[in-house]
Amino acid sequence: MSCVVIVGAQWGDEGKGKVTDYLASRADVVVRYQGGNNAGHTVVIGSQEFRLHLIPSGIFYPDKVCIIGNGLVVDPEVLFQELDGLLARGVKNGRLCISDRAHILLPCHKRLDEAQEDARGNQKIGTTRRGIGPAYVDKVSRVGLRTGELLEPGWEDYVSQLVEQKNAVFEKLYGVPGFDPAEIVVWLKPYAERMRPFITDTSLLLSRYLAEGRHVLFEGAQGTLLDLDHGTYPFVTASSPAAGGACTGSGVGPTAIDRVLGVCKAYLTRVGEGPFPTELMGVDCEDLRQRGMEFGTTTGRPRRCGWLDLVMLRYAARINGLSGLIITKLDVLDHMPKVRLCTAYRRGGEVLKEFPASLRVLRECEPVYEELDGWQQDTSGIRRYEDLPEAARRYLQRISEITGVPVVMVSVGPDREQTIVLQEVF
Ligand code: IMP
Repeated sequence: MSCVVIVGAQWGDEGKGKVTDYLASRADVVVRYQGGNNAGHTVVIGSQEFRLHLIPSGIFYPDKVCIIGNGLVVDPEVLFQELDGLLARGVKNGRLCISDRAHILLPCHKRLDEAQEDARGNQKIGTTRRGIGPAYVDKVSRVGLRTGELLEPGWEDYVSQLVEQKNAVFEKLYGVPGFDPAEIVVWLKPYAERMRPFITDTSLLLSRYLAEGRHVLFEGAQGTLLDLDHGTYPFVTASSPAAGGACTGSGVGPTAIDRVLGVCKAYLTRVGEGPFPTELMGVDCEDLRQRGMEFGTTTGRPRRCGWLDLVMLRYAARINGLSGLIITKLDVLDHMPKVRLCTAYRRGGEVLKEFPASLRVLRECEPVYEELDGWQQDTSGIRRYEDLPEAARRYLQRISEITGVPVVMVSVGPDREQTIVLQEVF
């Protein structure tokens, strides 16, 4: 039995979808433990590209079980659009199970997210506007609707009350129209029926799989620096993408987890607002953006791009207890004559080695770089670590030395095959 958690070690978009899809071939069960359809996981299989937002990336294997854990907020419309889309494209999908404790995201959460972002003006967070924050607010306020409640009589009245409460907020605080509660009930009813066969106690299911000695893969969405507690607050998401979230978001205890692997791009990107010390501007940013196709999977927004920040990565290693690193998109740097790694920050006369909690401090940080020779050679066809150009190996080695975490896998392109394995995960 082996229980492995995959987390984003940066600000999301590290290529976790491809990595999870690759590792899912060796796992029996794939579990999403937090977030919702703010995530966008791209999986390339042969000539086909798939974009997943809610469904775990193990879905492409018919013999796998895919679990949507209790830590998620589920927009039922998106869930079934996604499932129907996969079926229409001929995917022979695995078995999908949804936790009876996962929360339902309603259209009013989405509108509230939009109204709040618009009201923030130039203070905006840059959310995906998918309603994620407001759905989690309802969960924490203990007024949320859980999937399990949809199996019981009387949820219609509860939803009507919830919508009426939200309508008061829309009208009084934001001056935007609310929803007709009856329409929301009518909207939800067919989804509630369709969801019924998928809803179960997934913590119990997982405990049985673990007792049978199955391999379980936890698929984090977003990234450590977007974690509500450990990320660059307030420019974070409303859930716990860091490894600790795998336990609370699935109902599996921490002693069951064997390894935590951090997925990290060979450079760094960010969508949304907030400080980014190694950010590149102008043509340098545009070059990385175009070569790395750095546009949001969920929103299409162009991503901000910069050099790999190892101060941040060391922080992610600590927060998650990383046992291995998976470096993705190494091939995007193939053309560069020189590559840079940020090893510390300079702030005034002071050198900082640890990632600060204060965004005011982070904003004032200048990166201290270590410059290395680029490899200027196409790595996308390479499948063995020994065959990588020496300068590329040196780059990976420095990442490992400075973070104290071994590199266990390297991705050199979006396809399943474009993967270099240094250490088997399962
Ligand atoms: P929310 O999750 O939609 O509330 O957005 C909060 C912050 O997280 C914003 O900066 C988003 O851009 C960011 N975010 C949410 N999901 C993702 C993701 O999957 N990748 C990268 N950034 C994300």
